[in-house]
Amino acid sequence: MNWNNWFRQIHRWLSIAFTVAVIANIIAMVREKSSVWVGLLALLPLTLLLLTGLYLFVLPYATRWRGAGRNGG
Ligand code: HEM
Repeated sequence: MNWNNWFRQIHRWLSIAFTVAVIANIIAMVREKSSVWVGLLALLPLTLLLLTGLYLFVLPYATRWRGAGRNGG
């Protein structure tokens, strides 16, 4: 598996971690037990999602710039 596939897989699984964290946040809010660390629980995967997502976004353009003649990753 090459780097591009790794980034895609990491992005995929981070999206699940983020979804779980959002649900945990909603539960904490409903129970009125919201705290800073519950908020950070979602912010961490979201930050990593942003970075890996931007990488995935640039991929097809980067391959074109390099003139490799491939479509995306
Ligand atoms: C935070 C900023 C984010 C950016 C910039 C971003 C960007 C991207 C990009 C560019 C792709 C690849 C699209 C393609 O060419 O096929 C992608 C795929 C994907 N994103 Fe994101 N994303 C972000 C956040 C999220 C979030 C919050 C979720 C879900 C909770 C998510 C779930 C997914 C999934 C499931 C895929 C498909 C992965 C695959 O092809 O296997 N992303 N994202």
